[in-house]
Order: sequence, then structure tokens, then C-alpha cells
Amino acid sequence: MTLGNVTNPENAARPVALITGASSGIGAVFARKLATRGYDLVLLARREDRLRALAAELPVHVDVLAADLSCEEGIAAGERAIRDCARIELLVNNAGFGTLGRFWEADIESQIRMHEVHVMATMRLTHAALARMVPQGGGGVISVSSVAAFGQGPANVSYCATKAWINSFTEGLDMELRAMRSPVKVQALCPGFTITEFHETLGMDARQIPAFLWMKADDVVEASLTGFDRGKVIVVPNWKYKIGASMMKHLPHALKLRMGRPGGKRA
Ligand SMILES: NC(=O)c1ccc[n+]([C@@H]2O[C@H](COP(=O)([O-])OP(=O)(O)OC[C@H]3O[C@@H](n4cnc5c(N)ncnc54)[C@H](OP(=O)(O)O)[C@@H]3O)[C@@H](O)[C@H]2O)c1
Repeated sequence: MTLGNVTNPENAARPVALITGASSGIGAVFARKLATRGYDLVLLARREDRLRALAAELPVHVDVLAADLSCEEGIAAGERAIRDCARIELLVNNAGFGTLGRFWEADIESQIRMHEVHVMATMRLTHAALARMVPQGGGGVISVSSVAAFGQGPANVSYCATKAWINSFTEGLDMELRAMRSPVKVQALCPGFTITEFHETLGMDARQIPAFLWMKADDVVEASLTGFDRGKVIVVPNWKYKIGASMMKHLPHALKLRMGRPGGKRA
């Protein structure tokens, strides 16, 4: 697929952000907010109709890239889009999904797809982006992780593990970048329960979650962009989740095991 608008040299004034998973939820909010910050956009997801509808409402140049990041072809298309775009200044690795069921009972294909989208696509697109941004001396990568990265949960094993990988990967990159005094920034954004299509797609009854735990995608993205401006590497939106995440890091394993027993309805 050829991308025309943002790679067109005539549109050379503004920076470009590529957002994965921009067809709904947190990714679509990133698109709206980055447009108001003056970015041209490349929007990537599988549902092209959704991406085109969003592109039509945004007052900036937008290219739409219909790609499935769970397969080689889709990831390679994302890499190409980044390599071909000289003005790329921000990559938002946001595409993601959850699965239901204990690890060994869940269909292995779903677990492989999750690792492809959360880990392989994040790693490869970030590699393509930093290979451009570091020599250019500017830009950044935001990868959407989760508070699930700070712990483990029954029926959520691969999700927690892949999100923990995103945090570790991001902190490692930050070390490398700071060691060479690069101005390029990286961030792992770790939201808690956020009102999007995530839980419906997962097939989970969102009414199980107490109302006070829900956040708006708008607030999550605002926290991310404010944190990005300040160079924050791990961003946990909302004070309740900040406390929860820091407690999770210090809880003894025995206590986590007790918390993870029964109640694991998702299993
Ligand atoms: N909502 C929450 O409570 C919550 C909490 C913590 C973290 N997160 C994280 O936030 C991120 C965004 O999720 P969301 O809450 O905004 O959910 P969402 O509304 O379901 O959006 C998920 C996005 O990912 C895209 N996507 C999924 N699989 C893909 C694939 N194989 N290839 C390309 N794109 C794919 C979807 O687009 P298509 O279906 O069109 O491909 C969609 O745009 C995810 O990484 C999720 O893990 C969400």
C-alpha cells in the first residue's frame, strides 16, 4: 500500500505520528489529540472503514494503513511506513487485545497473536522508528502497556507477561538513549480499566468492574502526553492506579497467589 499524504514532500511542514490501533478507543483519542498538537498522522489498524471515517474528521494530513500486526505482512507494512516517512517524530504502539481462559486451555493461536501484536510489532516498529529518530536527534515512542504489567493474574497470563515486556523494553531503551544523551524520548503508558471497546471485544462483562475504577480514554491519553512532555518513562494515569501499581511491585508472591485464587471468573 502506498501512503500519499504524509510522505508527500509538499506537506513537509509538520511532524508525523504513526498510531497503531487507531480505529477505536485509546488509539483514536491519541489521533484526535495529536492532530490538535499539529501532527500529520498515519493511522494503522485492520478496520479500514473506521480509520477512513476518523481521517475524514481530522483537520490534518492523514494516511490510512490497513494492516494486521499479528502477521509478518502487517508488521512489515508498518515498518515500511516508518522507514518511508522522513518526518516521523512520534510512534504510538497502541494496538492490543486481551484473551479469556487459563493459558493452557486458551487456543495457542490467540496467545501467539497476542505476542505478535504486543511484543513483535512493538519491537520491530520501535526499531524502525529509533533507527530514524536517533540520528535525526529528536522524536519519541509511546507504547501502550497496562497496570497489568506490574503483576500477574489468573486467566491473564500472556497479557500480563507481554505488558511487563513492554515496560522492561521501554526502560531499557530509556537507559540506552540517556547514556548517549539522546533527546529521543520513550514512554510505557500503563492504564487501568478504561472505557473503550477492549472489554466488549474480549467478551468480558464490564459490569463486573466497580464504577470507581473506570477511566476515560481522554484522561488516559492526556496523562500520557503530559508525561511525554516532561520526559516520564513509566506513566500510570490516575492516583488510584499509581498506588495500586506501586503496591503490586512490592507484594510478596505468597500474597499474590492468595489474591489470584478462585474468583478468577475469566478462567
Ligand atoms: N481498555 C482498557 O481497560 C485498557 C487497560 C490497559 C491497557 N489497555 C491497552 O490499550 C491499548 C488500546 O486498547 P483499547 O482499550 O483502546 O481497546 P480497543 O478499543 O479494543 O482498541 C484496540 C485497538 O487495537 C487494534 N488491534 C487489535 N488487534 C490488532 C491487530 N492484529 N492488528 C492491528 N491492530 C489491532 C484494534 O483495531 P482493529 O480491530 O481495527 O484492528 C483497535 O484499534 C491496548 O494495547 C490495550 O492492551 C487497555
